Amino acid sequence: MSAPPYVLNFGAGPAKIPSSVLERAQSEMLNFDNSGMSVMELSHRSKTFGKILNGTKDKLKTLMDIPDNYEILFMQGGATTQFAAVFYNLVAAKQAKDGNHDEIFVDYLVSGAWSNKAAQEAERLAKNERSKITVNKVTDSKQQFGRYGNVAPADTWRFSDPAKTAYVYYCDNETVHGVEFQQVPQVDPRVPLVADVSSNFLSRPLDVRKYGVIYGGAQKNLGPAGVSIVIIRKDLLADLDVGPVRPLMLDFKTMADNESMYNTPPTFAIYMVGLVLDWLVEQGGLAQIEQRNIAKAKKLYDAIDNSPLYNCPVDPSCRSRMNVVFRLTSEALETKFLAGVSELNMVQLKGHRSVGGIRASIYNSMPEQDVDRLIAYMESFEQAHTEAAE
Ligand SMILES: Cc1ncc(COP(=O)(O)O)c(C=O)c1O
Repeated sequence: MSAPPYVLNFGAGPAKIPSSVLERAQSEMLNFDNSGMSVMELSHRSKTFGKILNGTKDKLKTLMDIPDNYEILFMQGGATTQFAAVFYNLVAAKQAKDGNHDEIFVDYLVSGAWSNKAAQEAERLAKNERSKITVNKVTDSKQQFGRYGNVAPADTWRFSDPAKTAYVYYCDNETVHGVEFQQVPQVDPRVPLVADVSSNFLSRPLDVRKYGVIYGGAQKNLGPAGVSIVIIRKDLLADLDVGPVRPLMLDFKTMADNESMYNTPPTFAIYMVGLVLDWLVEQGGLAQIEQRNIAKAKKLYDAIDNSPLYNCPVDPSCRSRMNVVFRLTSEALETKFLAGVSELNMVQLKGHRSVGGIRASIYNSMPEQDVDRLIAYMESFEQAHTEAAE
């Protein structure tokens, strides 16, 4: 068999997994830990799988410095399922805490497509509740700026009354629009802060103590699709019979009480996440990874900003280190640009179908030299096309 081509995978997710992780999975594929079986064939109730699940939790706990008063859950249904789970469980937690069923607010910072979808899901579910639940958009970039690509200053945000607010929700990194919060939003300490970190999970250190819930799908920075990780402060785990009626599989307390094994968990995906966490430790941990991510993103944004051909539609104050979006001066040139990259085995650079343009996702697993090769191509493309215009 000939060697596979070296592909530079700039996909937004499912995304590149470090090759050493894939090689390790390959080497253990037919015989995991001398069991004579693949991880996929192990019972989730077996001791061997128990070691994988608990080991993965422990590694995450150490790497992220997760305090003991937080629970780590492995859930299914993708990050989208968490839009509903967060609403149900945190409204329940609020109702369990103060018995107020009359009027509750859920606050959303809308900075791009994903936080917008989460807010829409909350609006849809709120209509079904007997209690009056109001979805408040604390800020909405599209309304304020006409499009996503900026976050309004914090002093313009309009939070609801903290005494009546079940949670404040935001998306730490907007994958489609390339918008990333550079600071944790400041919220009233009485109100749990919820972050969707699907596309920047473990790309930088994060102070878990500032959050009520942190969650993300694995398929960008953590492994394959099929598992979502939820980190929740234990006092927010409400009993199932309190608050909105919700499917068992979306109930955080049911998941916590059953060690994420109320039903069959996505065993292989959890195992893969464990291998990615080992890889992150080998890379020197999150502080080290952050430095690398800063360097990669800076290079790419500099190449865009220093060029007459490319431009980044995202304000420098909130540009993502993970998903770098940019445009060329015309759609025809973008099509040509994308045809050129695919000849060089650089794949999945097309912008999200809702926005067009180019998007280079440069997650933890993307080596700096691959970013360099993209920049070299951008420079040669620019030369060819600005000379042609002169
Ligand atoms: C930030 C963010 N949130 C949520 C989702 C939805 O994830 P899933 O497809 O796993 O439901 C995505 C998917 O790309 C995402 O980037």
